[in-house]
Amino acid sequence: MSTSNVVCSTECVDVTWSSGRTTSLPNLWLRDNCACDDCRITQTEEKKFILTQVPADIAPSGASCESDVLAIEWPDGHRTIYTADFIHSISTPRRPCVRHWTGDFQPLQVDYAAFTGDGAVAVEAISEFLETGVVVLTGAPTEPETLEALAEHLGPIRELLFERIHNVELDPNGYNVAHTSLPLPPHNDFASYSWPPSVQALHFLANETPGGDSIVVDGWRVLEELRRDKPEMFSALCSMPVPFREFDDTNETYAVAPIIELNADGSIARFRFSNQLMQTMNPTQPGVTDFYRAYHELCQRITDDAAKSRFRMEGGSILLVASHRVLHARDEFEPIGRRHLQDAYFEHDNVRNHLTVLQRKAANR
Ligand SMILES: [Fe+2]
Ligand SMILES: [Zn+2]
Repeated sequence: MSTSNVVCSTECVDVTWSSGRTTSLPNLWLRDNCACDDCRITQTEEKKFILTQVPADIAPSGASCESDVLAIEWPDGHRTIYTADFIHSISTPRRPCVRHWTGDFQPLQVDYAAFTGDGAVAVEAISEFLETGVVVLTGAPTEPETLEALAEHLGPIRELLFERIHNVELDPNGYNVAHTSLPLPPHNDFASYSWPPSVQALHFLANETPGGDSIVVDGWRVLEELRRDKPEMFSALCSMPVPFREFDDTNETYAVAPIIELNADGSIARFRFSNQLMQTMNPTQPGVTDFYRAYHELCQRITDDAAKSRFRMEGGSILLVASHRVLHARDEFEPIGRRHLQDAYFEHDNVRNHLTVLQRKAANR
């Protein structure tokens, strides 16, 4: 047995696999991720071992690698095995594929009955939704509360204040600009929540008014271009806390957060944009001038016609948007016919879960 392809130190184990590639594995990582039956709950595959069972400076008492299987001996006699395939598989980040688009893009249209009745159609539609952040379902019933039925396909409804299923129609007492016939600039809903809903469904029960075309904007595409062209503006939008509020006589929602929130790897996690809900910022705090320059540039970019995908939603159509990414908007309409839509919210994690479930079902067939 040769151990020349494994080198142990007080910090890590360096292993050279048969491919010639060398991987450096920290000692505590090696011990923490042991997958043996003592370290895992075999029924659930969850971790049972907890790091407090070993000292922080633990190091292997021995290690070897034969046929790309790394075996570690620990001072207390415990033994841990890793394969090269496992190490390589977890070195590849598990990230959904994101396809950016501009104003010449038109969302995929999918028949509602096919989406709800055929797993293969749902897999295609949800995959497209995860990549582009938008899909339109057509031919849905025009009954109120139809969105309740989507819970079976998108996960439970994310309930928010005001209404469980939100009604949007002309309303002289409405709490939001959506209840007028005015144009709506690109925005996402409920910026006034610290965790705004991550999926929105807009179901048109009737659309009989001239004008009022629907608009969507790929917010993440706009932000990535801003990061490329004006990095200092991008970072001003990441760091300045901005207040948002939505309220009526009985509800008060309020959150303070930056317009752009990033993941630990620097990729965009959330875009929060609502001209109508944004509140007056304290003008004496440092950075407001730079923030406002950046915000002006952002407003120009997201309202640019070249960024807007525009289409008409007929009664019975449902627009689905990944609302931490895609902004929605509408043109002004003439208030001379019936226009009624209902909004419900879902969560992106649950939609991704549904795709996994459908794919597993298909694989087991
Ligand atoms: Fe909205
Ligand atoms: Zn173990």
